Amino acid sequence: MGEEIELVLDKYRTAGRILAEVREEAKARIEEGVLLLDVAEFVENSIREKGGEPAFPCNISRDEEAAHATPAIDDNAVFGTEIVKLDIGVHVDGYIGDSAVTVDLSGKNDELVKASEAGLNAAIKIIRDGVSTVEIGEAIENAIREHGYKPIVNLTGHGLTRYDAHAAPAIPNVKHKTGVVLRENDVVAIEPFATDGVGKVAEHGNAEIYSLIKAKPVRIKEAKKLLEEIKKYQELPFAKRWLPRERLDLAFRTLEGTRGILRAYPILKEEGDGLVSQAEHTLIVKKDGCEVTTKLP
Ligand code: CO
Repeated sequence: MGEEIELVLDKYRTAGRILAEVREEAKARIEEGVLLLDVAEFVENSIREKGGEPAFPCNISRDEEAAHATPAIDDNAVFGTEIVKLDIGVHVDGYIGDSAVTVDLSGKNDELVKASEAGLNAAIKIIRDGVSTVEIGEAIENAIREHGYKPIVNLTGHGLTRYDAHAAPAIPNVKHKTGVVLRENDVVAIEPFATDGVGKVAEHGNAEIYSLIKAKPVRIKEAKKLLEEIKKYQELPFAKRWLPRERLDLAFRTLEGTRGILRAYPILKEEGDGLVSQAEHTLIVKKDGCEVTTKLP
């Protein structure tokens, strides 16, 4: 039993190490005038070159976008003087690392960037076997407010299980009355978001990210073929631009139009149009602390 756990934890560690390397390399490429698509493809290709697989599409969310933005096929958007969130997922045999950083190309939002980092560090400091998500949420909220910003209340950290990038429990970024106790060898992602807006996000516009809910029978040949392609991502999120282009519109519309096959992830935007920063690491809960898997050694 103990050996089996170590084998699994080692896969989480490998995913985390790949992620940390790719994240640092990608961070350096985020500059004014660079194509978002180039950075996203660099991230996803580098993950594969290093022996992992993307656990979800590279998220590049800017300014009031908090999450779920990823470039479309042939997207020609370039970075401006924005506050950029780079959120990356890597899996090795289904075992996931999830980590995000904020790059401030505006040069004016240092404290906002520090606020979410402080929230993450405050959480990491107290996580150990027996800690409650209530304590974690409180630590994150206090750290963000000390920097003069608000935590985003409807975005949370989460558990990670095999092929599930958003498993229970939800780990709030604010203090709640009730929560869940974390136990030794639980794997969780902590991801505080800070904002100068109202502290809430809502879905906005079209989605470029989807996941498979259930492979139901479809009649159209192209849709059937596309569904077979999508099955290889299991239930992990994928980008529309990852799919084969041949008759994609017809096939995709058929799948999207059949209830219960695909889940869409529209962009999440700050409801008060506030700027948003994010910091995230994946960690393994230990008896007396925690082991961050997505940090460079
Ligand atoms: Co996450």
